[in-house]
Formats: sequence, C-alpha cells, structure tokens
Amino acid sequence: MDTALRKNIDWVGCVDWTVRDFHGYNTDRGATYNAYLIRDEKTALIDAVKAPFADKLLQNITELTDLTNVDYVVCNHAEPDHAGGMARVMEALPNATLVCSKKCAAALGMHHDTSGWKTHLVATGDKLALGQRALEFIETPMVHWPESMFTYVPEEKLLFSMDAFGQHYASSQRFDDEVPLCTVMEEAKTYYANIIMPFAKLVAATLARAAELDIEMIAPSHGVVWRSHIAEIVEAYGNWAHCRPKPKVLVIYDTMWDSTGQMARAIHEGACMSGVTAELINIRTSTLTRIATDVLDAACVAFGSSTLNQSVLPMAGAVLTYLKGLKPANKTALAFGSYGWSKGGAETVDEDMKGMKWEVLREPIRAQFRPTAAVLDECRAAGRLLAEKAKEVASGRKTGERLCGDP
Ligand code: FEO
Repeated sequence: MDTALRKNIDWVGCVDWTVRDFHGYNTDRGATYNAYLIRDEKTALIDAVKAPFADKLLQNITELTDLTNVDYVVCNHAEPDHAGGMARVMEALPNATLVCSKKCAAALGMHHDTSGWKTHLVATGDKLALGQRALEFIETPMVHWPESMFTYVPEEKLLFSMDAFGQHYASSQRFDDEVPLCTVMEEAKTYYANIIMPFAKLVAATLARAAELDIEMIAPSHGVVWRSHIAEIVEAYGNWAHCRPKPKVLVIYDTMWDSTGQMARAIHEGACMSGVTAELINIRTSTLTRIATDVLDAACVAFGSSTLNQSVLPMAGAVLTYLKGLKPANKTALAFGSYGWSKGGAETVDEDMKGMKWEVLREPIRAQFRPTAAVLDECRAAGRLLAEKAKEVASGRKTGERLCGDP
C-alpha cells in the first residue's frame, strides 16, 4: 500500500473495515480514521484516531520514526473518531506538544484528563515552522464542530481538511485515483448529506477561503486523499452547499395497508412520464442514511404516510425528524397519504415540509381507506407537475434562494 503523500509526509491512519454504524449513519463500506506524519527538522503528527485504533497508529508511526522524535500532535477536530485515541497517543509520545485551537483544547479537556499535556494554542493565520515546511492553521467553526480546523502546508500545496471532503470508505488504497471515482464520489456525497449538510452556509464560506489557497492535494480525516480529482470534489461541495438540485423527483413513503403505497406508485408513474429521474423509496426497505443522501440533490420530494393515531407512521416520523435536523433546502414538495376515520398523516407531513421552508406545491392528496381511480389520476397528475417543476428548478430558473441549513 502506497502511504506516501509527499517525501516524508505519510498516511499513518487506520482502516476500520467492519464498522457499519456511525451514530446512526450506516457505514456500508466501512471507514478510515486518517492521521498523517510529517518528518522535517521537527516531526508533526496530524490528528489521531478512534480510541481502539490508537496502538495501531503508534505502530504505524514507529515504522517511520521513534516515538520520542514526535514534536507536535496537531488536533484539527476533537470528535472521538479522531481524538478518542488522543490520551493514549499523548502518553506514548513523551516529547510531543499538542497543537490545537482554544476551542479544541476546551473540548479535549472535557473528554480527557489533559492536565499533564504540553499544549500550544493556535488560531487562524498562525504558523508553526517545522524546518523546510511550515503548518498554517485555518479555523473552520461548525464544519462540522465548533473547534473544527484545517491545517495547510503551503510548501507542499497540501491541505489537511479534517472531516470536510471525507468519505466513510474503507479501502486498501489511499488515493482517489486508485479507487473507482463513482464510488468515492458516492461516499463523499453520503458523508456530506448525513454529516455536513446542516452547516452549508459555513461550508460555502470555508470553500471561499480554501479557494484562496494553492492546493494540489486534499487529505481529509476519512477515506482517500484527493490528488487527481480535486476539481470534481470541490465542484460537488459547491453544488451541495448551495443546494443546486438535479432534475430529480423523489417519492418517499411508508404505508399501512398499501393505500399510500398505491398513491406513491401513481405519483412516481406520473413523474416518470416526464423524462426526469424519478426514484421511489419505501421507507421500510431503505435507511435514514440513504434517504438523506437521495434528498440532498433532488429538486422535488413527494412524501407520503398513512395515518396512524392521527399522525404519521413511526418510521415516516423518524425520516421527517432526521430531515428536519439536516435542513435540506430548495425543494418543491407534496404531501400525500391515506387515512381511515381521522386524518393526520398527510397533514403532519405537510406541516413538516412547510417547517423546512420547502415550497409545497398544493394541499395534500388524501385517500379515505383506499385510493379511488380519481385519486390515483390526481396522483399521476401531481407526479407530472413535480417533474416539470424539477426541470424548471434544475435548469437554473429558480436556484439559490436558500442554503441547506438555513433556519
Ligand atoms: Fe470524523 Fe466529526 O468526526
């Protein structure tokens, strides 16, 4: 495995092949916790790893240098998937000084006993000389924690971007041109949708800041290093942060006795007639992770639920709760669903869509017990209308009103 980013700059992280859950995010392709070692007149470790992998990280460092030679440990992010192993690392590196922002030091102090650690606080614009190279620090608050930070090495045109541009993707290769690009872009999109999406406005500001840097390589804290497809991932981040949708209609539903299912299929059928991408998602056979990812770049979303206890079905409620937290923006939407003797399913969906400031196309389509032929025709017509809206939005006639994550 090629782990050298540059001469004397190496990946020393760990691959977590079997992890399948990251606080509810399905990591179907596993994960990596990336750490990097820069050997110069001074030696710096960039980031640590999740606690169970700390000894493996130390072993990787030992293969390159003696642990006593490490002078600095830069912590770009205090979340436990990176800094969980920090206590073990600081204990094993007797001559190392922790380098981090003030906010990061405070966060680390709440996770570990940091009282014995030598610490050097840095802020945006600060530099740390290593010898032939220097580290420059750029705080990136809320991308995606308050203490998040980038570390840049101008002499190498190399950006350590922490979670940004990352992917939960275990592989035996370390670079973007050694793995299928469609796979790595898919995992980058999934990561953005499920972790970064609520902070789009700050991502946009960070991208603008990063555009001022001369970058030939982006080394995130998860997944492969970007060296051949930087333009693609930066463009994708710009599209996601500005919520530039694709001409895509999503029909998402949960159903009790398939009445709402019939309505969903009719809406989907209508959308398919209009030549846009139209996807049909049964919540019970999908996942929150997948649904959030599909919503990210959809222009239009039809969301249906049968009524249960004057509200939505439980899993439909879970999806709505998840989406409300992620705050996807710039959607044209439609609620639908069946009911028996009291309403509440489609109405709850409608309220939640309006709460997310989605443009709701019309009042909810409802069916009492079973959808009649007339209701199914209404659904097909709504599907066609959503498809036309999707083309209109994606053609640029109506983009950029709001950023994902706007309150
Ligand atoms: Fe990969 Fe926010 O931790």
